[in-house]
Amino acid sequence: MARSHWRIGVAGLGTVGAGLIGLIAANPGFSPAGGACEVTGVSARSRARARPVDISGLAWFDDPEALARSEDNDLFVELIGGAEGPARAAVEAALRLGKPVVTANKALIAAHGKELAALAEARGAPLLFEAAVMGGTPAVKMLREALVGDEVEAVAGILNGTCNYILTEMEATGRSFAEVLAEAQALGYAEADPTMDVGGFDAGHKITILAALAFGCAPTLAAAEIEGVESIDLLDLRLAKELGYRIKLVASAVRSASGVSVRVHPALTPLDHPLARVDGVLNALFIQGARTGRIFIQGAGAGAGPTAAAVAADIADVMAGARRPVFQRPAATLEAFSPVSPAEATGRAYVRLIVRDQPGVIASISETLAEAGVSIDSFLQKHVEGAGGVPIVLTTHVAPEATIARAVTAMAALPAMITAPRVIRIARI
Ligand SMILES: NC(=O)c1ccc[n+]([C@@H]2O[C@H](COP(=O)([O-])OP(=O)(O)OC[C@H]3O[C@@H](n4cnc5c(N)ncnc54)[C@H](OP(=O)(O)O)[C@@H]3O)[C@@H](O)[C@H]2O)c1
Repeated sequence: MARSHWRIGVAGLGTVGAGLIGLIAANPGFSPAGGACEVTGVSARSRARARPVDISGLAWFDDPEALARSEDNDLFVELIGGAEGPARAAVEAALRLGKPVVTANKALIAAHGKELAALAEARGAPLLFEAAVMGGTPAVKMLREALVGDEVEAVAGILNGTCNYILTEMEATGRSFAEVLAEAQALGYAEADPTMDVGGFDAGHKITILAALAFGCAPTLAAAEIEGVESIDLLDLRLAKELGYRIKLVASAVRSASGVSVRVHPALTPLDHPLARVDGVLNALFIQGARTGRIFIQGAGAGAGPTAAAVAADIADVMAGARRPVFQRPAATLEAFSPVSPAEATGRAYVRLIVRDQPGVIASISETLAEAGVSIDSFLQKHVEGAGGVPIVLTTHVAPEATIARAVTAMAALPAMITAPRVIRIARI
């Protein structure tokens, strides 16, 4: 595909699409491979909507699929979003014609990555998606290209800036989840419907993609265990800090002899772990490689500038003749995902109880844990104004998660218990 001039069709003119059009207009020769590119056609939902960039000279398509099929562009960029609907149809249409595709769509790649990779590879068309994970911070290329000589054992990251902003602000200001969420919505950090972010689903899409890249398996969204931050309260943020941890929404993928485990959940992260020091809307990723050891990257996970820059880097790769498999290896050789069964999962947990202030409570808690076979690593009893009883916090040593769950159920039934125990896992990498 030796071409000196590339004509680009851009579907989606929102935050990222407008950012990309502005970037290319300002610097059409950004590709280090030489040559130039220009946006020739665009598509969005509303033609009448005012845009922050000038699209007056560009061909307009009501239908993104028609733009993807148009012979007036050589490269199709999909910035609409969503796993189904127009984004999927347009990407498939372009790939069927052998046209290179660049997308920032994590939902699409997490849900249909293997089929799209097979189509792209069969038609000899690059399919690149750097911006889909961590926006402007290059995580996809690092796992797909820079680390192919290593064996990645685990990845763990803070992959959702909205959740990290909310947790950081709650901790810093002592405000509740609901108050900080409302502020994040007013500042534009959180959507009007925040479910994708605070429910952990956005991070779930991203860790599904990273797991596929790290371990050479097909992206399998259904295998990710997902829990959000909605039920984190200030009391736990404060008590965790006293024990030497910060609570973060951690997305992780770990490979062991029993399979691969992919999870998103609030996790107590030791204060000296690099992930514990990530504040505000930043994203970060920690990688454990068998040969490389520990790698840590941190940067912007969203926003017009950083995300458009990641899309532009993929366009530059296409212009330079990118010819790699879509994932770390050809689609036909991606391994089936083999999840660790819940019965085999082990870990450590933080358990917070609110109990009546009466003699013998601590002894009954210790006996319950001992009977279940769970040993305690640390124990904290703390008077907290307004807690509605005496908060007791304990952290466990590593134990089967099913055993910890049984012990918690038994503790919940103790007569001194005022509220249901709160269990938060302790970060595993
Ligand atoms: N925002 C970020 O910082 C960020 C970071 C990383 C990845 N991403 C990913 O990048 C993609 C775009 O995100 P965004 O934030 O730019 O989204 P956005 O601001 O909501 O923009 C979406 C665009 O898609 C257009 N669109 C929606 N339905 C359409 C349809 N049926 N046909 C044609 N166009 C349609 C919209 O048209 P109208 O403008 O006319 O409504 C809008 O221009 C998503 O996959 C997202 O996950 C975003």
